[in-house]
Amino acid sequence: MSRSAPKGLPWPVDTPVLVRTSRLVKVYRSGGVSVEALRGVDIELAAGEFAAIMGPSGSGKSTLLHVLGGLEPATSGEIWLRGRRVDRLSTAGWAILRRRHVGFVFQFFNLLSNMTVADNVELPALLAGATPRQARKRREELLTDLGIADKAGTAPGRLSGGEQQRVALARALANEPSLLLADEPTGNLDSSSTRDVLRLLRRAHDRGQTILMVTHDARVASLADRVINLFDGMVADDASVVPVPGRMPGVSNVLELRG
Ligand SMILES: Nc1ncnc2c1ncn2[C@@H]1O[C@H](COP(=O)(O)OP(=O)(O)OP(=O)(O)O)[C@@H](O)[C@H]1O
Ligand SMILES: [Mg+2]
Repeated sequence: MSRSAPKGLPWPVDTPVLVRTSRLVKVYRSGGVSVEALRGVDIELAAGEFAAIMGPSGSGKSTLLHVLGGLEPATSGEIWLRGRRVDRLSTAGWAILRRRHVGFVFQFFNLLSNMTVADNVELPALLAGATPRQARKRREELLTDLGIADKAGTAPGRLSGGEQQRVALARALANEPSLLLADEPTGNLDSSSTRDVLRLLRRAHDRGQTILMVTHDARVASLADRVINLFDGMVADDASVVPVPGRMPGVSNVLELRG
């Protein structure tokens, strides 16, 4: 990938691999029962790459994102970010890494209900050291791009599922993270909101941000450079998206299809 590294990238920019996992295993244990959610996952994402993760329900997609974002510890295996091994980081170490460099859109949004939409979106930037003015400007841009600028003063609990989902995306993008981990970012959205979200993801991608996005929708996945299929906690298939002859690759197809 020749794409240049995003602004503020903390790692040496001459390393093309942004994320690498090696024999990544995650076993959940609860009440004497073990579930092997990831069973030896090896993936490599180049800086600036946009990859979709697909696979049946329960195949380990959300688990992979959670483990890559340090929200769940790996049971074994290795995670490398820009040449630095991170699977052994402490909870605090992960929190700092995430705050500065990783954006996360959860499947079930995790917005702070006692704060307004505006505060939810500004918080990550403020925590990462932006001035209130910078945070407000970025928030205004993001909410406008996502068509929810009029909701800035509202509490998330008063928004529809799709609106909350867009707030969650705005929050994840507030710090222009090197790595965006997005779990079904268009899952609850109508076609016009899906277009807004995909446009924003495309813009992040154009800026050189690396995106790993879980989706059940093949048309949404066709926006990515690459589709990784998980099955039973393992990579079943990992292929670059081959452009269909006579069709422009990328988001335009999806936007037309959904138009
Ligand atoms: N916190 C947890 N405790 C125990 N088991 C879990 C936990 N989270 C997930 N699992 C199990 O791990 C497996 C993988 O779950 P995961 O949520 O990663 O699947 P998924 O591919 O994201 O599915 P979906 O498409 O339904 O979101 C499933 O069998 C699930 O039941
Ligand atoms: Mg999931």
